[in-house]
Amino acid sequence: MLAAALLLGAALPAVAQTAANPPDTMEARTAACAPCHGKVGEGTQDVYFPRIAGKPAGYLFNQLHAFHVGRRRYPPMNYLLEFLPEAYLQEIADYFAALRPPLAPPEAPTVAAVVARLVAAEPKAGQTEAIARLLRKVQSMSPEERDRLRDEHVSSRTKPDLA
Ligand code: HEC
Repeated sequence: MLAAALLLGAALPAVAQTAANPPDTMEARTAACAPCHGKVGEGTQDVYFPRIAGKPAGYLFNQLHAFHVGRRRYPPMNYLLEFLPEAYLQEIADYFAALRPPLAPPEAPTVAAVVARLVAAEPKAGQTEAIARLLRKVQSMSPEERDRLRDEHVSSRTKPDLA
């Protein structure tokens, strides 16, 4: 029935494309998904909002269906999908599965960000604490001092003095 409705839509004469009457494409229909998943499902810099483009259609359908019936919970998604027919969920899944937008460019991680993440992930690990100390020390050094530390470290292969 949905396919018939779509075919019918395609057969209708083109209507003026106004804001109230946007083009009836999957991109336009999935515009509600864009703020959280990217314009074409490419994802965002926030890992909590998953990339959906290019994932297998069966996988996407299962997720959409789980939100639809409330087995998987995230209120905005449940709300958006609750009243959509299953055949349409399949269409959405097929649409995003076929898209291949490039991966979002990785944020060039700063050393400070990497170390902060390591320390956060392993707060007990003395090693990451030592790295954090080293980082603070290196950041407070002049370029000449940094060179010296590097040269000493490379030549002696000993632990740099962190005191
Ligand atoms: C308000 C933000 C928001 C909107 C709008 C939104 N989503 Fe989501 N979506 C999420 C979040 C967050 C998750 C992960 C939720 C969780 O923790 O299970 C998710 C999960 C998903 C997943 C599962 C992905 C995976 O790999 O597990 C799919 C598929 C999906 N959304 C599709 C859509 C589609 C299609 C739309 C538009 C109809 C949409 N979403 C609208 C935020 C949103």
